[in-house]
Amino acid sequence: MNDSELRHCVESVADPELGQSLGKLNMVKQATISDAGVASIEIELPTPAYPGRERIEAAINAAIQRHSGDAADANVTFGWKVKGKETGGKIGLRIKNVIAVGSGKGGVGKSTTATMLAYGLKSFGAKVGLMDADVYGPSIPHLCGASGEPAVDEVTDAAGNRMQRIQPIDKDGLKLLSIGFMIKADQAVVWRGPMLHKLLTQFLAQTEWGELDYLIIDLPPGTGDVSLTLSQLLGLAGAVIVCTPQKVALLDAVKAISMFGQVNIPVLGIVENMSGEIFGRGGAKDQAGKSGIPFLGEVPITAYIRELGDAGRMSEIFNEDSPVREELLGVCQNIAMQIARQLLDSPALPTLEVL
Ligand SMILES: Nc1ncnc2c1ncn2[C@@H]1O[C@H](COP(=O)(O)OP(=O)(O)OP(=O)(O)O)[C@@H](O)[C@H]1O
Ligand SMILES: [Mg+2]
Repeated sequence: MNDSELRHCVESVADPELGQSLGKLNMVKQATISDAGVASIEIELPTPAYPGRERIEAAINAAIQRHSGDAADANVTFGWKVKGKETGGKIGLRIKNVIAVGSGKGGVGKSTTATMLAYGLKSFGAKVGLMDADVYGPSIPHLCGASGEPAVDEVTDAAGNRMQRIQPIDKDGLKLLSIGFMIKADQAVVWRGPMLHKLLTQFLAQTEWGELDYLIIDLPPGTGDVSLTLSQLLGLAGAVIVCTPQKVALLDAVKAISMFGQVNIPVLGIVENMSGEIFGRGGAKDQAGKSGIPFLGEVPITAYIRELGDAGRMSEIFNEDSPVREELLGVCQNIAMQIARQLLDSPALPTLEVL
C-alpha cells in the first residue's frame, strides 16, 4: 500500500459516532506509510469530548487489513478542533458554539447542569465560558465560588466610537459573567424587557470572551424573553432542556421544547436531572422519545452534587475521586456530539436582523 492508497482506505471508513465517512467529515489530517511499512494516521476530531477514539482506531485497522490482507497495527493519533456555526461574528464574537441550558420550570437544576457542563467540556481541553442569563436569581458566581467585579474598559472601536468592554471573571480556567458579580446580593433590580435585552446584548457583544469553543448560557426558568433576545443576537448551537423525572416536570419540558421552537433555537436534547430513588428515573428518556428529540443522559440526585454547589466547589465535580465523574462526563460527551451531529445536518442558520 502506498500513501495515497492508505489515505483512500482510511477516508472510506465510517465514523462510528457520526455515521459519515472520515473523508467526507474531513477528519483525516495525515496518512503515511514509513519505509518499514508502518501506517501513521492522524485523525482530527470535531470535539475533544469525542467518545469513540478506540472504535475509530479499530475500524481503521480493520479497513487496512481488508485492503492489504495483512494484520494491521496502524499508529493512529488524535487531535481535535471544535467545529461550530460561528454565527456570532456579526456582533464580534469568536465563539464556535453557544449552548443555552433551560427548562420550563424553576429549580430543576439548570444552573447546576450548566456549570457541570462548563467544567466538563473544559476538562476535555476545550476553551469554555459560562454566562449567567438569570438576572432575577443569578447563581453562577456562587456555584463556581467566584467573586470580584468584572473590569469595564473604555475602548475606541475601528469607527472611532467610544464603547465599553467588559472583562469576564477568570475562574478555574473558565470565563464567567453574571449580573451577580455586578450587584450586591440584597440589591433588588426590577428588570424591564428593554433593560434585559440591553444587558444581555452587553454580556454577549461587549464582553471580551476571546476565542471560545463553547459558551454555556444558564437561562432563568420559563420565560421566553431571554431566549428570544439570544436568538436575535446570534445563531445558537442549541438548547439543552433540563427536567426532573416527575410527570409535571416532563410537561414543562414539552413547554420548553415548544418555546425554543418559537424562537428558532434548535433543541439539542433533554437531560434528566435529580434522577434516582426519590423522583424516580427514566421519565425524561420516555418523554424525549415521544417528542422525537435526543436524550442526553441522567444526572443522579446525590448529596454530593448539592454539597459541592452549596459550597461553591463545583470545580471539583470532575476530580478523579468524584463519584459522579464518569456519568457526568458521559452527559457532556453526548451534548458535544449532538452539537457535532446537528452541525452536519444543518448549515449555518441565518439570524434575525434586529440590531
Ligand atoms: N443532581 C442533583 N442532586 C442533588 N441536588 C441537586 C441536583 N441538581 C440540583 N440540585 C440542587 O437543587 C437546587 C436547585 O438547583 P439549581 O439552582 O441548579 O436549579 P435551577 O433550575 O437553576 O433553579 P432556578 O430555576 O431557580 O434557576 C440546588 O440546591 C442544587 O444544589
Ligand atoms: Mg438557576
